[in-house]
Amino acid sequence: MQFVTEQAPGKLNLALDVLSKRPDGYHEMRMLMQTVSLCDTVSLRLVPTGPWQLTCCDEAGRPGRLPQGPENLAYRAAELFCRAIGHFPEGLSIEITKRIPMQAGMAGGSADAAAVLRGLNRLYDGKLSQDKLLDLAAQLGSDVPYCVLGGTMLAEGRGEILTPWPRLPSCGFVLCKPAFSCPTGALFAALDEAARGAAARSGLAAADGAAAPGVRRPDFAALRGALDGGDLAALGRGLCNVFGPVLAQRHPEVLALQEALLETGALGAQLTGTGSVVFGLYPTFDAARAAAAQLRGNGANIFVAAPV
Ligand code: C5P
Repeated sequence: MQFVTEQAPGKLNLALDVLSKRPDGYHEMRMLMQTVSLCDTVSLRLVPTGPWQLTCCDEAGRPGRLPQGPENLAYRAAELFCRAIGHFPEGLSIEITKRIPMQAGMAGGSADAAAVLRGLNRLYDGKLSQDKLLDLAAQLGSDVPYCVLGGTMLAEGRGEILTPWPRLPSCGFVLCKPAFSCPTGALFAALDEAARGAAARSGLAAADGAAAPGVRRPDFAALRGALDGGDLAALGRGLCNVFGPVLAQRHPEVLALQEALLETGALGAQLTGTGSVVFGLYPTFDAARAAAAQLRGNGANIFVAAPV
């Protein structure tokens, strides 16, 4: 086999909590992750002569704003894979068709890198075990291991400790991508700062790295109960992200988008990752499609998706 195509689904954080700051500078997380049908497509081709090439365009074939070479995480994933199997092909073409919005909190770059790992492993007849692929994925970024597996998962540690959770019942999502975004590292720093400020005001020691006291945090037991019972309404009520208030402080539009989604019948609406996509959960895909039609024109890019 010389050619494979992999879908690279984007993810939503149905819940996201930051537990503490670690000595390595990363944060200890607990997240409920879900892949969705809004996906990039990654095609890999082994070619007899070099060089290695990565191209990235949108569905209409227009080149995107992404780095087209070794600076792209997907290219680094290919290098890491080849180093692990001890073989670098003369020529390799990586073609990415982008549909997942960028700087959205949907792990688009991580999804592409994970698809490269999966795709190369198919091209090389499953040379690496799943554990080895996950190990390589963790070297590329915190969300990449989850993106290798996808589905409904609890992610802990930096995001690499993965436990499958019950699948979501059939439902729909509306995703709103506003024009603004905020770098992930800056939002973690803002969360730390807010926690320190709140601790100083209350006279208590700062809970190092965790969300500020008073910030609503996810109830994972309730979320697990909602999934065990296939209860979408309870899942909607349980959607929670500790970055929500931090981002809303800088961009109050986050709250307006949540409101707008709830007004169109969403069972819950929340920020994913560090944003800036705000998504709503709907009882059916058709309900999500109808809501999306109402929301178009509000200044955000609107997408409809199902869990995958
Ligand atoms: O691992 P990744 O490169 O995706 O992370 C981007 C940035 O997000 C890190 O440099 C760090 O500032 C922050 N981060 C964190 N704790 C995590 C994941 C990411 O502090 N668990």
